[in-house]
Amino acid sequence: MNIEKDIKSILVSENQIEEITTRLAKQITKDYKSSERKLVILTILKGSFVFSADLVRKIELPMEFEFMKVSSYGGDTVSSGNLKISLDISRNDLKDLDILIIEDIVDSGFTLSNLKKYLEEKGAGSVRVCTLLNKPSRRKFPFNPEYVGAEIPDEFVVGYGLDYNEKYRHLRFVGVLSPEVYMK
Ligand code: PRP
Repeated sequence: MNIEKDIKSILVSENQIEEITTRLAKQITKDYKSSERKLVILTILKGSFVFSADLVRKIELPMEFEFMKVSSYGGDTVSSGNLKISLDISRNDLKDLDILIIEDIVDSGFTLSNLKKYLEEKGAGSVRVCTLLNKPSRRKFPFNPEYVGAEIPDEFVVGYGLDYNEKYRHLRFVGVLSPEVYMK
């Protein structure tokens, strides 16, 4: 893998990510400070692990951690519902929790609209979504995340958790993948 050759341009730089996590963490701290419920950070694997790790260290509140793995990208064949969950949250105190879902990207809106509904139906005290990237132009399922790091155009992005064929997740920035890489 020749990273410099594979990345066409940097879309969200390391400095911009630093600013984004600081801004979002401040807002989250302010919004949840006076809640009576327990704050639970729900990181959606795999893509969100990098963003989540940076963000939570800037939130100045007590919190607990949970992880889920769900499948998305059904592409045009997905109509609605039937989220595939391969790792679920297993707690019996959902009603006492403020669940803050951490995502790397909201694209069609399929994953997050269904995941939020799933947790609400299971009785969670509150459910909100914090995403690093938002692609509103790709939305097929109505969904608005409460916290957004950056709105981006419809480009093939990798890095800072996001992959192409499981590669590039470790990059410190979000970059646009060169078409030569996926046209091969
Ligand atoms: C990505 C992302 C969201 C979902 C968003 O996960 O992390 O979960 O897709 O797409 P949607 O809005 O069209 O539903 P992906 O399936 O790439 O899994 P990964 O995080 O394990 O790479």
